[in-house]
Amino acid sequence: MPAGGFVVGDGQKAYPGKLTPFVLFTCVVAAMGGLIFGYDIGISGGVTSMPSFLKRFFPSVYRKQQEDASTNQYCQYDSPTLTMFTSSLYLAALISSLVASTVTRKFGRRLSMLFGGILFCAGALINGFAKHVWMLIVGRILLGFGIGFANQAVPLYLSEMAPYKYRGALNIGFQLSITIGILVAEVLNYFFAKIKGGWGWRLSLGGAVVPALIITIGSLVLPDTPNSMIERGQHEEAKTKLRRIRGVDDVSQEFDDLVAASKESQSIEHPWRNLLRRKYRPHLTMAVMIPFFQQLTGINVIMFYAPVLFNTIGFTTDASLMSAVVTGSVNVAATLVSIYGVDRWGRRFLFLEGGTQMLICQAVVAACIGAKFGVDGTPGELPKWYAIVVVTFICIYVAGFAWSWGPLGWLVPSEIFPLEIRSAAQSITVSVNMIFTFIIAQIFLTMLCHLKFGLFLVFAFFVVVMSIFVYIFLPETKGIPIEEMGQVWRSHWYWSRFVEDGEYGNALEMGKRSNQAGTKHV
Ligand code: BGC
Repeated sequence: MPAGGFVVGDGQKAYPGKLTPFVLFTCVVAAMGGLIFGYDIGISGGVTSMPSFLKRFFPSVYRKQQEDASTNQYCQYDSPTLTMFTSSLYLAALISSLVASTVTRKFGRRLSMLFGGILFCAGALINGFAKHVWMLIVGRILLGFGIGFANQAVPLYLSEMAPYKYRGALNIGFQLSITIGILVAEVLNYFFAKIKGGWGWRLSLGGAVVPALIITIGSLVLPDTPNSMIERGQHEEAKTKLRRIRGVDDVSQEFDDLVAASKESQSIEHPWRNLLRRKYRPHLTMAVMIPFFQQLTGINVIMFYAPVLFNTIGFTTDASLMSAVVTGSVNVAATLVSIYGVDRWGRRFLFLEGGTQMLICQAVVAACIGAKFGVDGTPGELPKWYAIVVVTFICIYVAGFAWSWGPLGWLVPSEIFPLEIRSAAQSITVSVNMIFTFIIAQIFLTMLCHLKFGLFLVFAFFVVVMSIFVYIFLPETKGIPIEEMGQVWRSHWYWSRFVEDGEYGNALEMGKRSNQAGTKHV
């Protein structure tokens, strides 16, 4: 029997323990971190399409919008300060997630979540009470710092708390809470935009205080993970906590493996240099390419700018916000489909199906917008059927993303890294994601202005490239225990040349690694 745990029928190792109400509660509270991230993604697009907000902070954009519809619609929102408002958050998040990795490791996951919550509160308040553009940007930078801390700590917390059998579902649970956050923000924007007097945007931006308080208070009542306690030398407390979390007395196998995992990860002096070794080439490639491609699907064009986009193609402000609510609902529902299907149909199937679906929709949307707006951006009369076709195809596109690149963009990297590089590789995945979220947010409105409907064809091109990449280079990881993951590279026509036999050690070593991998994550 391999060290620690025991082997169950499907070859996966098992520790005693169940999904206790306690662990469920802690995970639900911790997942609120995703809610806040989603709220931020969803709120800015709606706010930047509210005339009272634009008039006050971005008068030149407002004036352009007010000019008659015969002017170029593609460029009405093209303003560097407006895009800076949206995208400053992601740059701040990128920087703070690097700082957070040290806080999380040295002082525990809870403290990072607490910092995240407090920074969020501060940012939300400054935004809600903003009088000048600089206050808006400072507020969003603080929100970004909060997101960096929360996003660094929360997935790690969930993975360490969750019984290993439910880790996959809880991972996608985090994505689900992101999508719920986006939807809540869009619904609120819809109602707040109707407030007479035009101060609804203050409620939209200030509303981030509510999820922020939930995670702040939550992090005060949540226990830290046993893993983190062990890393910080609190062995006895960790054992007691593990018993409570798992709901069983006999936790010694898992506990011993946690201790071993902690020792092994601490013995690696240069995790970043380690990552550059030839045998980790496939992992490094995926750590960079998967988040890069996830952002190059163009999803955040819809998430950030759906109301702006709908406004551009001729919807009224009200109809634009309502359409954003519709796409937000599709996003949540389709994520549930992925929770259901990911272990049944496999990752590759979802990636390829979702890619094809997105491609078709992007082509149709580009054709629709191109046909009506031409290259000079003047629409003329826009019939109702036209609006319905565009919104329908955008919804089908969002569904395609939400059951493929959305959750899998986070899940697949987290399941393919061997323990010794997991932490460093996961940081790369998070950083690449934030950088490209920033870039897309920063340049989208300018690209819409210059590339016009061709913008959708640019993303369509990338969807083709990423689907070919998945088809050729990404092995199926469904149903394969983490510790056996080495085999998928060894038997791969291309990656096998990097990952030679024996690179992953003997069976006993693998057993040890599996137990560590099951508990020490990210
Ligand atoms: C992505 C975000 C995106 C969200 C949409 C996440 O997986 O990382 O950039 O806005 O999905 O639901």
